[in-house]
Amino acid sequence: MPDTYDAIVLGAGAAGLMCAARAGQRGRRVLVLERAEAPGKKILISGGGRCNFTNIGAGPANYLSANPHFAKSALARYTARDFLDLVESYGIAWHEKTLGQLFCDGSAKQIVAMLMEECAKGDVTVACGEEIAAVTEDGGYAVTTQTGTYRGKSLVIATGGPSIPKMGATGFAYDLARQFGMKVVEPRPALVPLTLGGDEVLFREISGVSAPIIASANKTSFAEAALFTHRGLSGPAILQVSSFWKAGDPVTINFLPGRGEGWLLARKCDTPRATLRAVLREALSARLADILADKLGIAADLGNASDKALRDAEKRLAQWDFRPNGTEGFAKAEVTVGGISTAELSSKTLESKRTPGLYAIGEAVDVTGWLGGYNFQWAWASAVAAGDAM
Ligand code: FDA
Repeated sequence: MPDTYDAIVLGAGAAGLMCAARAGQRGRRVLVLERAEAPGKKILISGGGRCNFTNIGAGPANYLSANPHFAKSALARYTARDFLDLVESYGIAWHEKTLGQLFCDGSAKQIVAMLMEECAKGDVTVACGEEIAAVTEDGGYAVTTQTGTYRGKSLVIATGGPSIPKMGATGFAYDLARQFGMKVVEPRPALVPLTLGGDEVLFREISGVSAPIIASANKTSFAEAALFTHRGLSGPAILQVSSFWKAGDPVTINFLPGRGEGWLLARKCDTPRATLRAVLREALSARLADILADKLGIAADLGNASDKALRDAEKRLAQWDFRPNGTEGFAKAEVTVGGISTAELSSKTLESKRTPGLYAIGEAVDVTGWLGGYNFQWAWASAVAAGDAM
């Protein structure tokens, strides 16, 4: 390997590979340094091995950030359609699973192979198994690993966030950013299962039960499935609201979305001999229906329950407050909320405002997508913004 490059990209994940390919194909000499033995490890496990590589509806409203406007520029200039065109140009078959989520028909390996081929087209050197010992500024940037010291005019931080530490994920990006005087928005686990304690541990008894519900936290709602687990709550709707949830907040579940006000009183008129348990079993799994009916404490037939009790039950079923006592943490989080502050970066190029030639892209930055292909779309878009600028 030569030791001088136009750009050194730290991290051969989604963002790093895309950025390196774009810069390489523009004639830049690019080196990617990756700690793991192979590139794109998170891509390989994503989407259950099929990689939900983008969301066709991805737009700024699908992202969390201290500055909700920051992602607009990059997302507008490299869209889901642009990435899909790239995927199709490689003949990779895909399908929309649900809600605009695009997956490979075959395997996530195809996305990694495509990115590696794009890097090869740009004569990019991708060096794996490189542990970074030090990064210094010397007019450009000098990166020392166990194999030597490499110099680049530009340096790209693309080392992701700390989610799934057993895959080697760390807060390296934040340490490096701080070394260069950049602020970091406190990182916390996101798209993560929530844990239940206290008298809500009862719900652990129905571990494995799922239901289509509406979950809300901090005024943000998602209508998808929730899953009860042996530790608490999971499933797409819960993962989505977990990104908005903060310790101490309730998570509110509407167990029977779509029922108009007064539906239970209407059932009292129509089927006075039915029990609440039986009515709930019509819409929900028996185990969930039973636990909810028990908690509501209406054992009598609907005809023998007071109107007030039924109105209260209906309200509770539509706004059932859970009080999670935590999350399953970075060990189970798909992504990280927070990261390198967007206030430090140009929204057009992802270059540091205070340190020329230093870029940060992908999950390392304080931009976090919803569940459903949005995080990869941010990785691609931020990578292209930087790769086309350096
Ligand atoms: P990423 O983490 O991909 O890459 C960072 C790279 O830097 C890694 O290769 C890492 O080894 C390397 N690195 C770290 N520290 C280093 C160091 N000190 N020196 C050198 N290299 C270093 N998103 C989505 O849109 N659709 C999906 O289907 C899924 N599915 C999914 C499943 C699971 C289980 C997880 C954990 C996550 C997802 N995601 C997802 C999220 C998605 O994987 C994530 O947003 C992107 O991988 C982020 O891309 P980055 O390139 O920023 O980081």
